[in-house]
Amino acid sequence: MVNRVPLLAGNWKMNKGPLEAENFVKDLASTIHDNESLSKAVKARIVEIGVFPPFVSLERAKKGIFISGIPMSLGAQNMHWEDNGAFTGEVSGEMLKEVGCKYVILGHSERRHIFRETNEMIGKKMKKALSIGLKPILCVGETLEERDGGITESVVEEQLEEAFRGLTGPLNQEGNVIIAYEPVWAIGTGRKASDEDAQRMCLFIRKFIGDKFGFTAAQNVRILYGGSVKPDNTKGLMSQADVDGALIGGASLDVESFLGIVKNTIDVLL
Ligand code: PGA
Repeated sequence: MVNRVPLLAGNWKMNKGPLEAENFVKDLASTIHDNESLSKAVKARIVEIGVFPPFVSLERAKKGIFISGIPMSLGAQNMHWEDNGAFTGEVSGEMLKEVGCKYVILGHSERRHIFRETNEMIGKKMKKALSIGLKPILCVGETLEERDGGITESVVEEQLEEAFRGLTGPLNQEGNVIIAYEPVWAIGTGRKASDEDAQRMCLFIRKFIGDKFGFTAAQNVRILYGGSVKPDNTKGLMSQADVDGALIGGASLDVESFLGIVKNTIDVLL
C-alpha cells in the first residue's frame, strides 16, 4: 500500500497582500509550535500543509515559512504556458519556481468560468509545469447544471483527457501530479459534496489515471477534494480511501479554521 501524505492546500484566491501573507504564515506556525502533538505531527510530515497566496505575496510568504521553522509548501494559483514574451499581465512557471513555488494550481473553476480558460489552455499549462518540475494541482469538476443533467463523470473525464492530452507514460511514477475534484456548486457555497460523492469521484479520477498511465501512477497520484471544506466536515472526508487531502478556500484564510482542518485530518490518520 502506497503511503500518500495528505495535502491540505490553502487557496487564498485574491486575498492577503505581502505583509498579511507573511504574518499569517508566522501566526499559523507559532500556533502549531504552541501545540506539542500538532507540532510533532506536522514536523514528522504526517500531513503536508500548503499555502497558495497571490503572486505578489509569494516571496513574503516564503520568507515567513523559512523563519517559522514549520514545514509548509508554497504554490501559486495560476501560470502561463510560455517561459516569457509579450503576454501582458501573465506570469511563467519558471518565475514561480524562482520564488520558491513547489506547486501551481491549474484550471481552477474560477479561471475556467470567470476568465474563460479552456481545456486546451489548461492542457498547455499542464505540459509546461510538468516539463519544468513544477507540480500541477489540476482542478476538475462539474457545474450544478451538469450534475443535475447526470453528466458529472463525462464532464470530468473530458477535463482530464484534455489536461493530459499529449502526455504519455511513464507519467507520475513519483506522484508529481495532483488532482483536485472540485464540484463548482460546492465552491464557496457552504454546500460540500457528500463524503460518498467525494469518494466516488476521487476513485473515478484514480481509475482514469490508472487506465492512462498505469498502476503505479494511480497509486501515487494524490487526489484532493475541494469545495466548502471546513473543520467540522473534515473527518468524514478524510476517512475516505481515495481522498488524499483538500483544496481549501475560505477556511484557509483564518488561522483557527485552517488549523482545525489540519488537526482533524491528523486525528483521522493517527
Ligand atoms: P471554498 O473554495 O473552500 O471556499 O469552497 C475552494 C476552492 O475554490 O478551491
